[in-house]
Amino acid sequence: MRQHSIAYRFILLGFACLLLSVSFGLTASLQYLFPHFLNEQFSFRNTRPIHVFLAVSWIFACVIGIIYKYIPDVAGRALYSGKLARVHFALQTLTIFIAVSGFCMGYFSGREYLEFPPWVSSLIIVYWLLFAINFLMTIRPKLASAPVYIWSWCTGLLFFFITIIEAHLWLLPYFNDNIIRDLTVQWKANGSMVGAWNMLIYGTAMYAMEQITGDKKMGHQKISFAFYFLGLTNLMFNWGHHTYIVPANPIVKQVAYIISMTELVLLANILWQWKISYKKSGNTSYPLAYRFFKVADTWILLNLILAIAISVPYINQYTHGTQITVAHAMGATIGINTMLLLASVTFIFEEQLHDAAKKSIGIGLTVMHYSLLIFWVSLLGAGITRAIALYEGNYFAQVSRKIMPYLVGFSASGVVLVVGICLIAFSFIKTISEKQLED
Ligand code: HEM
Repeated sequence: MRQHSIAYRFILLGFACLLLSVSFGLTASLQYLFPHFLNEQFSFRNTRPIHVFLAVSWIFACVIGIIYKYIPDVAGRALYSGKLARVHFALQTLTIFIAVSGFCMGYFSGREYLEFPPWVSSLIIVYWLLFAINFLMTIRPKLASAPVYIWSWCTGLLFFFITIIEAHLWLLPYFNDNIIRDLTVQWKANGSMVGAWNMLIYGTAMYAMEQITGDKKMGHQKISFAFYFLGLTNLMFNWGHHTYIVPANPIVKQVAYIISMTELVLLANILWQWKISYKKSGNTSYPLAYRFFKVADTWILLNLILAIAISVPYINQYTHGTQITVAHAMGATIGINTMLLLASVTFIFEEQLHDAAKKSIGIGLTVMHYSLLIFWVSLLGAGITRAIALYEGNYFAQVSRKIMPYLVGFSASGVVLVVGICLIAFSFIKTISEKQLED
C-alpha cells in the first residue's frame, strides 16, 4: 500500500478538483437562467473558465495518479523516486492553487484552458519533467517489445511537452501580431493537448482492461497498435476541425475532417471486442469497473455521431460557438474521459470497497449516465434552436427566449449529474482516506 500512497494522493487531488469544478459548473449553468446570480462575486465570464480549468485539472491529476499506481506494477519494481513524485505532487497542487487564487482575484489571460498567468506554465513544465523522469526510470521501456499502453503513455508525456510550449508561442510577436496565425496555433496546441491527455487515459484504460480479463495478448495485438497509430495521427492533425472559421489553408481542414472521424470508431471497436472477451472469460471479479467501461463505450458512440455531424464544414459554420460545441466538449470529457478514469479508479479499489460504497458508486454511475444524457440532449436542443433562430435573423433577446426551455433542462439535469458525481467521488474519497490512515 505504502508505495502507492503518492498515486492515491494524486487521485484525491483529482477528486477535489472535480468537486470544485462541478460547483462552478453548476453556478455557471444557473447563470444561464439568472444572469444576475452571484454576478457581483463571480460572473459567468469568471465561473466558466474556473470550471473548465478545474475540470482539466481533474483529468490530469487523476490520470497521473493512476499512472503512478500502474507503473510499478507494469515494471515489476518500485517507483524510481518517491521524493521526485512528492515534489511533483507539491508543485502540481501549488499550480492549481495559484491559478484558482488568481481567477478569484479576477486574473484571466484570455487563453482557453490556460487562463492562468503564462509564468505558471514554467511550474507545469518542471513537474511534468519530474513525472517523465520517474516514469521512464521506473518503466525503462524497451519500445520494440512494449505493449501498446506503454507507447500511449510515452506519447502522451512527450506531446504534452510539445503542446504546452506551442500554446505559449503567442508570447512571441511573430505569432501575436497576426490574428490568423495566433488563432491557428492556439487551437492547434489545444487540440493536440487534448490528444495528449487522451493518449494517457486510453493507455490506462487498455492496461486495466488487460488486467481485468487477464488477456495479455490485447496489449500486443495489431488492432490495438492500429488504434494507437490512429490516435497519434489524430493528435497531430485533427486539430484542424477547431479552426474551420479561420481563413487558413483549406487542405488543413480537409485532412482534419477525414482524420477526426477515424479515432473514435477504433476506440469503440476495441472496447466492444473487450466486452465480448470479458463475457467469454466468465470473469466476475470487477463487475463495477466493467460497468464504467460499458457506459464509456455508449458515450464514445454518441460522441462519434455528434463529431461526424459537426465536423462537416457546412454544418460546422452554423453550429460553431453554439451549445452544440459545448455538448461535444462536455460529452467527451465527462462521457469518455471521466468514465474511463473512473473505470480505472474502480479497478484499483474495487476489491477494497465496502458493500455500502459499492452500492453508492453503482447508483452514482446510473444517475450520472442518465442525467448526462438529458444534460447533453438539452445542450444539443439549445444549440440547434439557437443556430436556426440566428439563421432566421432573430434578435439576441428572441434567441435567448427560444432556447430557455432547453437551458432549464440543462441546469436541472446538471444538478442531478452533480449528485451522481458526488455519490461516486465521496465513496472513493472515504475509501482512499481510510486506506491511507491504515497505512
Ligand atoms: C466531470 C464533470 C465535467 C467536466 C469534465 C466538464 C467539462 C467542461 C468543459 C471542457 C467545458 C468547456 C466547453 C467548451 O469549450 O465549449 C465545460 C463548460 C461548461 N460546463 Fe462543464 N464539465 C463538467 C460538469 C459540469 C456540470 C455538472 C455542469 C452544470 C451543472 C457544467 C456546466 C458547464 C457550463 C455552464 C459550461 C459553459 C458552457 C458555455 O461556454 O456556454 N459542467 N465543461
